[in-house]
Amino acid sequence: MLYLIGLGLSYTSDITVRGLESIKKCSRVYLEHYTSILMAASLEELEEYYGKKVYLADREMVESGCEEILRDADKEDVAFLVVGDPFGATTHTDLVLRAKKQAIEVEVIHNASVMNAVGSCGLQLYNFGQTVSMVFFTDSWRPDSWYNKIWENRKIGLHTLVLLDIKVKEQSIENMARGRLIYEPPRYMSISQCCEQLLEIEELRGTKAYTPNTPAVAISRLGAPTQSFKSGTIEELSRSDCGEPLHSLVILGRQCHDLELEYLLEFAEDKLEFQKAVSQDQEYFKPEPWVPPIEEED
Ligand SMILES: C[S@@+](CC[C@H](N)C(=O)[O-])C[C@H]1O[C@@H](n2cnc3c(N)ncnc32)[C@H](O)[C@@H]1O
Repeated sequence: MLYLIGLGLSYTSDITVRGLESIKKCSRVYLEHYTSILMAASLEELEEYYGKKVYLADREMVESGCEEILRDADKEDVAFLVVGDPFGATTHTDLVLRAKKQAIEVEVIHNASVMNAVGSCGLQLYNFGQTVSMVFFTDSWRPDSWYNKIWENRKIGLHTLVLLDIKVKEQSIENMARGRLIYEPPRYMSISQCCEQLLEIEELRGTKAYTPNTPAVAISRLGAPTQSFKSGTIEELSRSDCGEPLHSLVILGRQCHDLELEYLLEFAEDKLEFQKAVSQDQEYFKPEPWVPPIEEED
């Protein structure tokens, strides 16, 4: 059996009882190590808690060489651990499909994900549109396909969850070109960098999917002991220091319910200014007033 087990968001003990019991049965345990990190636990702490050796599985191992993970999983139990939920903003469907092709049984054990825990900032999950990912810009690569998705969400009043890039075990272009297996230190995008990139692309496009005054919520270290939220405009958040990773951002949709706003105001430095920004933003995409069609005369 291949077990895909969600670890939850932060603590070693966030794993479910069923997840832990399954790990105990496994002969090999892999921890997916490139889409998220368990903030309040080290690898050694996990190994001690599970009573098992845990192998780190990087992107290359999962995406191209998953044979090692699936080896003998038709005869013995193997665990593949994913921070958050195995299907929350990480698609491990490829691994499942490969396992099934090899007649390996698969069991998924779910857990909390950033995709649902984001609701603790006070915004209703019902009111979210498409989630987008913001990657680190480089001198020659500044992808902005997320821009239209934010625009679509905002047009129909929905909030946008922006997930931020993580770079773990990346090679520099020079080391890659020279075939040197030297890896850069891990990097995690911050809220301020994400907001700067948002503002850069808005300035280039100029179609106002959002503006520097659009209200947003910075979400830091959800589920960890130092979890924090900060409400402010995109421009304000581009100047704020939200501390250690992991970070996510929510760009508000036009339809911000009164209760949502009341909750968000708790996280605003200047409550009056934030309330003003939300009221102004609500006017922004208001649908055109309905005008009855002109009836044609016979
Ligand atoms: C590709 S997603 C993986 C999500 C994970 N599988 C889950 O279900 O939560 C990783 C991104 O989600 C966001 N994220 C994940 N956990 C977070 C947390 N605890 N607090 C804030 N943002 C988080 C960060 O932007 C991070 O770069």
